[in-house]
Amino acid sequence: MKFKKNILCIGAGYVGGPTMAMIAYKCPRYRITVVDVNPTRIAEWNSDDLPIYEPGLGEIVKATRGKNLFFSTDIEGGIRDNDIIFVSVNTPTKTFGAGAGMAADLQYWEKTARQILQYSQSSKIVIEKSTLPVKTALAMERILNYTKSSLSFDVLSNPEFLAEGSAMTDLENPDRILIGCQDTKSGLAAREALVEIYANWVPREKIITSNIWSSELSKIVSNAFLAQRISSINAISALCEKTDADITEVAKAVGMDSRIGSKYLNASVGFGGSCFKKDILNLVYLCRHYSLHDVADYWESVVRINQYQQERFVLNMLTAMFNTLAGKKICLFGFAFKANTGDTRESPAICITRRLLEEKAEIIITDPKALKNAKADLAGVDGKVSFIEDPYKAAEGCHAIAILTEWDLYRNLDFQKIYDNMTKPASIFDGRNIIDHKRCFDIGFNVYPTGKPALTQS
Ligand SMILES: NC(=O)c1ccc[n+]([C@@H]2O[C@H](COP(=O)([O-])OP(=O)(O)OC[C@H]3O[C@@H](n4cnc5c(N)ncnc54)[C@H](O)[C@@H]3O)[C@@H](O)[C@H]2O)c1
Repeated sequence: MKFKKNILCIGAGYVGGPTMAMIAYKCPRYRITVVDVNPTRIAEWNSDDLPIYEPGLGEIVKATRGKNLFFSTDIEGGIRDNDIIFVSVNTPTKTFGAGAGMAADLQYWEKTARQILQYSQSSKIVIEKSTLPVKTALAMERILNYTKSSLSFDVLSNPEFLAEGSAMTDLENPDRILIGCQDTKSGLAAREALVEIYANWVPREKIITSNIWSSELSKIVSNAFLAQRISSINAISALCEKTDADITEVAKAVGMDSRIGSKYLNASVGFGGSCFKKDILNLVYLCRHYSLHDVADYWESVVRINQYQQERFVLNMLTAMFNTLAGKKICLFGFAFKANTGDTRESPAICITRRLLEEKAEIIITDPKALKNAKADLAGVDGKVSFIEDPYKAAEGCHAIAILTEWDLYRNLDFQKIYDNMTKPASIFDGRNIIDHKRCFDIGFNVYPTGKPALTQS
């Protein structure tokens, strides 16, 4: 079969895999190839055991793989044979040199640019899918157009706004698709080629365009705003605990104001995931670079409050459990940074586990999808940690349960059965406010919600 377009994606991660699977699914006449430097990841994409968990992803990959969706390690061939190239490689926080701990590490991104230049035999449209600091497209264009070859490269910015855990529905029904381009004849033509792809299933009015720098910046700012809402409500949850106000009631009253809205107002142990912290730090770094120190301080405080919320959670546990956790068994319900994903990158559970281990507690971790990643995150850590998939078995003999991920599974457990098999007094620290606190209190638990009065026996 002759395909209408041949599309390559470099980077088969949480963004590249699901995004390309959706394009393949919605555009059967396009041939999509996803390449990666990591052969294990590619082998997993070609197996029944996909490297990431997302509801609905397995079905879409099954419907398209081998027909118009292909996973491969042949980066050179991929670049040679495709004229539209998405780049969705990782852009983590830099851990070394200038900007360490703040700036984006662009080494993978730059390496990709150089590979595209090296292997291209025809002109290309290169699309930034990765989240990048504003003005990165400029650097990419300079690398790609460095040699005076007859080939031309147009760089577009097309940031991805999917949320892990709902990636497939977000991709199928996005709030918007943003495409930034240079205001040149070829830039505008490249933009039209990309609009044409999305228009296969996204209504035209949701495909918006902007200048390339606005597009790059909008992605980072979106994440900063979302994280800021979480830190705002978490900051207020601390005040609620001191004043007997109830954060759920406050959030409801505040969120019903149509100027504010109700989303992202759930108090919790804090945000995690590979993006929020990294993107805010990147924003802070950019602001400092342009000497906007007050602006930088403002955004940095969002990350500070997130850290504070995790520390506060552990301190609350310590205080509630008679100021010593040494030798006590604590069961963590959930290790993923949010429900419906196995991703544990920057999960609050990592910091909380480490802090509890410092207090010499024994930790038992349960999670329906994230135990493999949890084991990797905690490899070599000092202290007693075990991993048990069944939450009932995991909680057996424990002094306390800490709910760290809002998996639906935990809402409907038989807490009487769990209580009966725990060491008494048994406590539950609900870091997500997802269980029925009154019911658990009536069973006999001491219950410590987030941002609400504790329910303690006598
Ligand atoms: N995870 C999310 O929810 C999310 C959402 C929106 C945007 N983003 C952004 O998308 C980008 C990718 O994120 P991710 O979560 O998919 O990362 P990831 O780490 O899951 O995947 C990146 C992949 O790129 C591969 N890679 C790195 N260098 C390569 C090279 N030179 N050639 C080929 N492959 C290479 C890695 O092996 C890895 O498999 C990041 O910039 C991130 O900020 C992520």
